[in-house]
Amino acid sequence: MAFSTEWEKIYSSSHHLSRWPWSSLVSLVHRHCAIHEGMKVLELGCGAGANIPFFVSLKSDYHAVDGSGTVVAALNDEYKGNAMVDVKQGDFTSHISVFGGDFELIFDRGALTHNSTAGIESVLKQVYEALKPGGIYIGVDWFSTSHSSLKRDRSEKIDDNTYVFSEGYFKDLGQVHFADEKHLKDLFAKYDFLYLAEKENNIKIPGPWRYNLWDFVVRKPAV
Ligand SMILES: C[S@@+](CC[C@H](N)C(=O)[O-])C[C@H]1O[C@@H](n2cnc3c(N)ncnc32)[C@H](O)[C@@H]1O
Repeated sequence: MAFSTEWEKIYSSSHHLSRWPWSSLVSLVHRHCAIHEGMKVLELGCGAGANIPFFVSLKSDYHAVDGSGTVVAALNDEYKGNAMVDVKQGDFTSHISVFGGDFELIFDRGALTHNSTAGIESVLKQVYEALKPGGIYIGVDWFSTSHSSLKRDRSEKIDDNTYVFSEGYFKDLGQVHFADEKHLKDLFAKYDFLYLAEKENNIKIPGPWRYNLWDFVVRKPAV
């Protein structure tokens, strides 16, 4: 259930270094969060920090964890002197308590979906504790069971929803977790769903290829 070390290899060879905030995330934060200066935010699996400039622009109190030492060192260098940006190295399936609680927003873009079902369940248990009542979780770009790689490409099955691929788009990307609507609703059963969309990307060239992904927003009930 641990962090897939493939990501460290990818970053240390200068691949997947996304540098622009992901547009779905920007829209969902604007639509569903009560944005204010000092909003307490935790990103799970921040990668090369694509989403950090967006939260800096909102003057958020931004925290993040990633398993790759390469990206965490680079981000700590880039944001040194900015007390509103706190990035730590770690495996988010084992502990996020180091960041404390009372988060208004916790999110991931394409990060939990690179873990096993047990890993995802473990981090979500901690996320529930770390969110304040009424706090928001946003998931962006979780792989759908209707993604064509799931049927087409050779892989080893790790659990009911998780695979490691030896060919195709997901080769060398470690664990890849696929969800359908029921599975997402089961994983977030303690939350209220505010938004759930399956993005059906019918790629023609290169293709044909169904690059289908979930975006969702859930709220921890206020007590
Ligand atoms: C597809 S990348 C996304 C990076 C970033 N969120 C973005 O949108 O550009 C997935 C990231 O999740 C991180 N990750 C996956 N599983 C992790 C885990 N269990 N603990 C810490 N980081 C993890 C990887 O190191 C990688 O940086």
